[in-house]
Amino acid sequence: MGKKKLVAKAGKLWAGRFTERTHKLVETFTSSLAFDRRLFAHDIEGSIAHAKTLGKAGVLTGREVSAILRGLAAVRTELEKGRFPFVPQDEDIHMAIERRLTELIGPVGGKLHTGRSRNDQVALDLRLYLRQELGRLLEGVTQLQRSLVGQARAHQDVAMPGYTHLQRAQPVLLAHHLLAYVEMLERDKGRLRDALARANVMPLGSGALAGSNYPVDRAYTAKLLGFPRVTENSLDAVSDRDFAIEALAALALVMMHLSRLSEELVLWSSQEFRFVDLPDAFCTGSSMMPQKKNPDVPELVRGKTGRVYGHLLALLTTMKGLPLSYNRDLQEDKEALFDALDTVAASVEVLAALLKGLTVNRKILAGSVNSGYLLATELADYLVTKGLPFRQAHAVTGRVVRACLDRNRDLRDLTLADLRSFSDRFGKDALAVLTVTGAIERKAQVGGTAHKRVAARIKQWEQSLR
Ligand code: ARG
Repeated sequence: MGKKKLVAKAGKLWAGRFTERTHKLVETFTSSLAFDRRLFAHDIEGSIAHAKTLGKAGVLTGREVSAILRGLAAVRTELEKGRFPFVPQDEDIHMAIERRLTELIGPVGGKLHTGRSRNDQVALDLRLYLRQELGRLLEGVTQLQRSLVGQARAHQDVAMPGYTHLQRAQPVLLAHHLLAYVEMLERDKGRLRDALARANVMPLGSGALAGSNYPVDRAYTAKLLGFPRVTENSLDAVSDRDFAIEALAALALVMMHLSRLSEELVLWSSQEFRFVDLPDAFCTGSSMMPQKKNPDVPELVRGKTGRVYGHLLALLTTMKGLPLSYNRDLQEDKEALFDALDTVAASVEVLAALLKGLTVNRKILAGSVNSGYLLATELADYLVTKGLPFRQAHAVTGRVVRACLDRNRDLRDLTLADLRSFSDRFGKDALAVLTVTGAIERKAQVGGTAHKRVAARIKQWEQSLR
């Protein structure tokens, strides 16, 4: 035929139509093996299901299926034991496994890829992997919630200044503050579950883009792999990565919450606040300043948040201009997704452990709720009970606070006579509203910081997180 020598022997599974070997630079540049080898178990699981499906369709004989299954098991053992002989021509984990399978069992290994493309194969592997990792992460987030609830239970009686604008605002229970994060994490879990549900669809049988020429029972493949549904459009199945982006978005929100919690741990453990002490085992020292105990763990969680946001934006951007269906750009999905999953899992785990060892400085907190005019709103609300419209009550109380500030006094230093000089609506019972406990107990509606509400919520969490 043609003059040019074909180079099928050069080692690539697809080398048939090529007349030149792949350039070394291209081999390195296009390889995904360094990162997609972590998909090997899922790739093999998918191949086993595919081989069985081909057998059921009569495309492979029973003996062929058995040979392939035995070969795949041997390949899996090699990979698990770190004995798998990778070669530079292995472009990705899918090609590596198929090459090795054929080395081990002979030409019948070449039948495995019938009716399949790496395009539907990689979509499958990624969904299987994500399903596993999201399941693990859900458990990790639950552990973190348990740590928070544990600290809430242990400090149900501790009041602290609640802040807005990082200015002391109103007293709240420390437990109420901690439980706020439990609520956030519960919504995060809902989003992770949603992402999981949409990832949990079986794409195999889509082929490269158009579907399969073989009478494969896709529902059977799905059943073997534990998927409740199959994809309904082959082009969509090999093209889209919205399931991965959705997971990344959910992961970004988890990190946002962890980052806020971390920021508070950094603040609270500072010498300016001293609300809490982080366990020594979770802090590091300074190479120069002997007195330092640094909150590196929450700082790093806060820092890693940017990296997870980055992965979300990276994959969104990768996808935005791609024509259907598969394009090699999609190979960029994996590092983003893997690193985001690793980062979030590690952050969740380390924070859960750190929180268990957190020491709360009750004395400091008790002192801090006694300054900062945290009870001013109580005084305004008292005047409302005496018939003053809230806006006027606010103004009167503002003048009281101003006078205290000028004289360097606290609201609780005031006598009834002092109060009555601002408004004759102040009665004998006015001074009684100026207690931290009273302020907390009056917030008794659902969602408020009153002891009984917080205690009830702790109980609910303890039951639902069991
Ligand atoms: N390594 C590729 C990826 O991760 C697998 C699919 C390659 N498909 C192809 N036709 N080149 O996306």
